Amino acid sequence: MTMSWKSGALGALIAAGAVATGAAAVSAADAALALKQRQAVMSSIGAHMGGIKGGLAAGNGEVVEAHAKAINGLATVIPSFFPPGSDKGKTRAKPEIWQKWSEFEAVNAKLVEESGKLAEVAKGGDKAAMAAQFGKMGKEGCGACHKPFRTEK
Ligand code: HEC
Repeated sequence: MTMSWKSGALGALIAAGAVATGAAAVSAADAALALKQRQAVMSSIGAHMGGIKGGLAAGNGEVVEAHAKAINGLATVIPSFFPPGSDKGKTRAKPEIWQKWSEFEAVNAKLVEESGKLAEVAKGGDKAAMAAQFGKMGKEGCGACHKPFRTEK
């Protein structure tokens, strides 16, 4: 959680645990802005997953590494786009995110960790190892968050 969607203030509030107590609700305008940005970040991450699949099919470790690094960087900002109060409008975010904030952060940290590992594994260029780590990242990084924290379409 090194960056926030607007300034360092939200990150500091989250770090201080204010979010968990519900004390840091942002304005409706800022909430809408955060919502837009998190959906854009998620779409970008989704596109990078496609990039990794392409790299895997071609056995191209450099391509896999580049996309894994992009996901790794984007993942670090995910929590900053979920300020309390951003549960309104066209969103699939579940209220559990704010009720179980530390769990939400923990599963996000897992994505940061596993995408970092994928970038490392990709340096070796071993197809089977890359595929295995890609699967692990998808399951423990993406799926593990979507299941409890994102509503079905
Ligand atoms: C810490 C939780 C978390 C992690 C980790 C996470 N997501 Fe998401 N994702 C969400 C939530 C919550 C939404 C719904 C956001 C909304 O609608 O406001 C979402 C939405 C999405 C969407 C739809 C975006 C849109 O435009 O509505 C895609 C695509 C997506 N995620 C892909 C991924 C992929 C791929 C990964 C793993 C590389 C991932 N996500 C990791 C929580 C997470």
